[in-house]
Amino acid sequence: MRSVHSKKPTVIIPPYLAEPTLPATILLQAGNRSLTVQAKLDNDSVDEKPSNCLQLTPYAARELAIPAYSYRILSYDDNCLRIGPIIGILAAGKPGDAAASEKAGRLYKQLIMQGWAKGIFVYCFLPQNISWSRGLIQGQTCTPNGKWMKGQFPIPDVVYNRILYRSTENQKMVQKMLEEFDEHPGIYLFNRRFLNKWEVAQVLEQNSCTSHWIPETTPFSITNLKTMLQRHQELFLKPCHNSKGQGIYKIERTGDKGFRYGRTEWKGKYWIYVPNYNQLTMRLKQSLDHPRHYIIQQGIDLARLQGRVFDLRAQAQKNRQGEWVLTGVGVRIAARNRFVTHVPNGGSRADFQKVIKEVFDSSQIQNSIEQELHRICTVAPVVLEQELKIPLGILSLDIGVDSSARLWILEINSKPARFDEADIRQRHMQLLLDYFIYAAEHNSKGR
Ligand SMILES: Nc1ncnc2c1ncn2[C@@H]1O[C@H](COP(=O)(O)OP(=O)(O)OP(=O)(O)O)[C@@H](O)[C@H]1O
Ligand SMILES: [Mg+2]
Repeated sequence: MRSVHSKKPTVIIPPYLAEPTLPATILLQAGNRSLTVQAKLDNDSVDEKPSNCLQLTPYAARELAIPAYSYRILSYDDNCLRIGPIIGILAAGKPGDAAASEKAGRLYKQLIMQGWAKGIFVYCFLPQNISWSRGLIQGQTCTPNGKWMKGQFPIPDVVYNRILYRSTENQKMVQKMLEEFDEHPGIYLFNRRFLNKWEVAQVLEQNSCTSHWIPETTPFSITNLKTMLQRHQELFLKPCHNSKGQGIYKIERTGDKGFRYGRTEWKGKYWIYVPNYNQLTMRLKQSLDHPRHYIIQQGIDLARLQGRVFDLRAQAQKNRQGEWVLTGVGVRIAARNRFVTHVPNGGSRADFQKVIKEVFDSSQIQNSIEQELHRICTVAPVVLEQELKIPLGILSLDIGVDSSARLWILEINSKPARFDEADIRQRHMQLLLDYFIYAAEHNSKGR
């Protein structure tokens, strides 16, 4: 749209950008949009500490299709000043409201407001709301004081894929949109897709930096089942694409020839006993919905707290420097006589330090568990990212501790569930915002 003003709009810029001289005009950029403006020096702040922010006038904001608030200065060269970054959260859940799709948007609101505090503009959008021809996305955001608002916003610098259903992500229209993001030079898309349990186990098992953390894993077949039963006392059969423990079977040897097996969903009757291997395979073939979608995994003899198995839910994220760090860790304890730890399956939450101290007496062992946990969360994500060739910024890791205090990676997820622990959630948001800046600064595709 052409400006109706005869004079160019003005922006007040911090003095440090004016060196050696102030150009007559500069190009102001936000996401895919830009506007030529007159630069005026902020004389009021000459003696104060240099500000890294720029306050937009309503006119400039309207032209750039962003709200008229204060923005972080992302870069300044060749008389071109980039503000933001502008972040798009692909928040599609069920059809309907983008922001309402995850816990009524409460978490997004917190993230957006904490983004404003750093001069970062975050908005949520649905796949069907992109208009490539107009270069705009219809999305939802909120004001720095927490009021939801809708608008037409620029194509962002960074897109974080938070589509929480595989069925939604697999839709043709969504796949096409993700490909367009991949091809667009100005957009950095991360956590592009769901991971599946087989690819994760396979790449980590094949890499010497991570193999010692991976229980032996094979795709499901009758031949592999036989071999794995000879090698291990307990096995887990897990569907590659499921979550929340759905469809998982545990098989255990009982005595010389017999076995018993159970499935997550069997609430009342926990185990089916079979006298021999032939009976076991016959029954399993009948039970498994899509055997080709299952993996067989060595069962880890998990440590127990008051007789109940537990595992660690860790979250790893990239920080301001693009390095992986441990965001936080919680413990999930299975209900008595259950082999999955999810809260919907009767599991409960507990504090990591308390549980480790209660289960392992020696402080040396407690420390080594903590150190190993940090190692897993900084090493495994790097290997995954390299081998799977998808940019990742955040992962959740299910980690088992066995009775000898050895750590095992049970699963890694690219669409982490929200943590209930408030301190972990807060650190999560700060790291995410820091990573948004890093990702926008280091997008090698360039705008
Ligand atoms: N190899 C294993 N040995 C012992 N216990 C296991 C093993 N694999 C899984 N489990 C138990 O089963 C639970 C569920 O397994 P997993 O995390 O692989 O699948 P999921 O829970 O369906 O996926 P998600 O965490 O995405 O919901 C684990 O939290 C753990 O308690
Ligand atoms: Mg899991």
